[in-house]
Amino acid sequence: MILSIEWGGFFMKLILCEDYDELSSKAAQIVAEQLKAKPDSVLGLATGATPVGMYRILVQMNRKKEIDFSKVKSFNLDEYYPISDANTQSYHYFMKENLFSKIDILPENTHILNGLADDPEAECERFEEMIESSGGIDLQVLGIGQNGHIGFNEPSVTLNSKTHLTPLTESTINANSRFFERYEDVPRQALTMGMGTIFRAKKIILLASGENKNKVVSELMNSDINTSVPATMLKLHPDVTLICDKTAYMSQYLGVDIGGTEIKFGVVDSSHKLVHRESIQTNCTNEKKLIGDIADKCREIMEKYPIAHIGVGTPGIIHDNKVAAVNLPFNNTELEKKLSSYLDMPVKVSNDANCAALGEAVCGAGKSAKNIIMITIGTGIGGGIIIGGKIYQGRGNAGEIGHMCIQIGGKECSCGLRGCWERYASVSALVENAEKAAKDNVDSVLHSIYNKNGELNGKLIFEALEKKCPAAQAVFSEYLHYLAAGIDSLILIFDPDMIVLSGGITGAGDKLINPLLKYVKSDIPIKISSLKSDAGIYGAALMGE
Ligand code: PGA
Repeated sequence: MILSIEWGGFFMKLILCEDYDELSSKAAQIVAEQLKAKPDSVLGLATGATPVGMYRILVQMNRKKEIDFSKVKSFNLDEYYPISDANTQSYHYFMKENLFSKIDILPENTHILNGLADDPEAECERFEEMIESSGGIDLQVLGIGQNGHIGFNEPSVTLNSKTHLTPLTESTINANSRFFERYEDVPRQALTMGMGTIFRAKKIILLASGENKNKVVSELMNSDINTSVPATMLKLHPDVTLICDKTAYMSQYLGVDIGGTEIKFGVVDSSHKLVHRESIQTNCTNEKKLIGDIADKCREIMEKYPIAHIGVGTPGIIHDNKVAAVNLPFNNTELEKKLSSYLDMPVKVSNDANCAALGEAVCGAGKSAKNIIMITIGTGIGGGIIIGGKIYQGRGNAGEIGHMCIQIGGKECSCGLRGCWERYASVSALVENAEKAAKDNVDSVLHSIYNKNGELNGKLIFEALEKKCPAAQAVFSEYLHYLAAGIDSLILIFDPDMIVLSGGITGAGDKLINPLLKYVKSDIPIKISSLKSDAGIYGAALMGE
């Protein structure tokens, strides 16, 4: 798959490969094309584990006389310092072993910085001049360090433009230690081409393979240019191709959160950063059109981001993978099956409240907790149960906590039952009781606020509470009593690490939590959602992790 990633008007080409073998052959192909187009090309070469497969293929191609290195000049990116050429860990040794001794390149045309140079500064200058006098690098091969270095240009406040001697960071020393028997033997310094030296190459290929490059590739793609990820500078080069295998790249997940008025789409990367977000209007009347709209937008996003998985959160009841939602045209709709076949990749569907709970559990208020119950307080009460970091769905429908019975034979609920928790502890219940109290207490502040606005809502009730209105206080106390009773029941059943509350009313913050804590018997932490309205897209996306 070939994608073009735009960054502020610059384009980085991305070749996304199935695996390391494909990456190696794609990279070798680009080098071969370069040599065929210009037999006396100047190549900038890299060491490390990543280009080994590419070198193997180049050797085979050279043996089959498909490519010729006899006129090629090469300059290597870097070399440890101090180190002798004979040391099996030196890059001199690496290049000889993996390429130079196996192809028809002339030894005098290969250039690697001298790891034993008495005067490293002079050696670096000599190296720069040689690159210059050879006409400059036509094609530079680069690997990328887990810390974002290219060559040994380590993350730093400032980056060096020219070839130079540099101390290595702890992260690089650790990464390099896999090649050495003893940690103490890993060199602490190196000679490396500078950012300017690399930048002057006419064409650059940047190779990244393996899960341990996942985070840095994501940073490269999604952060602005910064010197703490030196590879981000490449975004300003006019001809860079990133060749990545799926393990290094496929770490982005697409989350879709279907709502009654809008459908939110978000791309979440492996470091749990929301790297893209957009929304479209919900077509509430036509199932085919609604699913088509979702699929079209997913496809559009997938052209820009290589998505490993798609997760969808939807309101309603999911039973046997069929969705039924009152305010959407889903009537036993096989949403998962339909979207998977439209998009030709696996799609996972869950209830939107479950998704929001998962989002909060993985990267929101419940981040440190394994088991959480999320309670969404709005027109009704929704819930999500996260056990061991995963959504507990039951047969597909678990988490309908708003309909647990809190009062036998109590108020009638839209679900057909009586005494459901949401009839007492939702915002609608609070407003209903407050409006009744306003009418019954004509001298109250609540009454005058109600009269002025023609209605009450959560915000207006808190306004009356601020003004210490006894009528509002009585309604609120009763409300908290019911809210706490439900929370205590849930805690008794699940014994979670944390309760996370969400919904508009949680905007009141401590004004809700502090009095609520007086009613809740358990001492389990109760926190307010930190991802707010994005929790659903996070959770939907992260179902694929
Ligand atoms: P690697 O090293 O290919 O061994 O992962 C890349 C680098 O550090 O630049």
